[in-house]
Amino acid sequence: MRIRLAAWLVSTAVLLSGCQAAPSPSTVPDEQASLTPSATPTASPATPPPSPSPSPSPSATPSASPSASAAPPKDTRKNAALATPYRVNGVIVVSKKHAVNARYTPAKPTGPYSLEPEVAKALARLTAAARADGVRLVVRSGYRSYATQAAIFKRQVASYPSEAMARRYNAEAGRSEHQTGLAVDLWDGVTWGLGMARTKAGVWLWRHAPEYGFILRYPQGKEKITGYAFEPWHFRYLGKAHSSHFKANSTLSLEEYLGLA
Ligand code: DAL
Ligand code: ZN
Repeated sequence: MRIRLAAWLVSTAVLLSGCQAAPSPSTVPDEQASLTPSATPTASPATPPPSPSPSPSPSATPSASPSASAAPPKDTRKNAALATPYRVNGVIVVSKKHAVNARYTPAKPTGPYSLEPEVAKALARLTAAARADGVRLVVRSGYRSYATQAAIFKRQVASYPSEAMARRYNAEAGRSEHQTGLAVDLWDGVTWGLGMARTKAGVWLWRHAPEYGFILRYPQGKEKITGYAFEPWHFRYLGKAHSSHFKANSTLSLEEYLGLA
């Protein structure tokens, strides 16, 4: 145990050097190394088809409204009802407080990362725009099943100095947004961990993701609200109707936006 703690402290020091964005001394072990769907070098799925999807959006509603509207509904789901996610204003919320069970999967998993079709298209637009700006984006993780998340969580708890620390960065099965097919972890293929926030990819994403329907899901300083520490790599698709309420470089959390905070 003492050896593991010492190794962790060393890796923490390495990780934090030159990384002023880091809010706390936390390592982010290589959670996805063996779970990324393929060795695809870039995040560019096929060119997005031009026609809009006829099926209803999984996450965004045309009549998107910011948090000023009515109070969100109570989450009364239990047992079998957990196969359907909690929603506020049509927005799916999966979090520490709002779980789903193993039966819940994306409605139409598509592409190498098994994302919802609308998300895969938006991701292609996002990565193309980044590329046009000279920024390389790589998908590190997309959809993860309940079972995959359970395996990751177990492994991560074993690799952190404490379970409490592991829980700051890792969701239990049924509480990960990755199970929705609406979330992606992005990086430049080189710098993982909190240092990613200061890479060209991290800086570009924080600024531009909302233009393409994505938001930084776990902003810095919002751990008490979101349940997770700052994750500069984790982006959640909301659709532009909602994401347009998130400014460039915003630290607004989804919970605050939806009135859940
Ligand atoms: N890292 C995020 C919180 C997850 O495990 O879904
Ligand atoms: Zn993630």
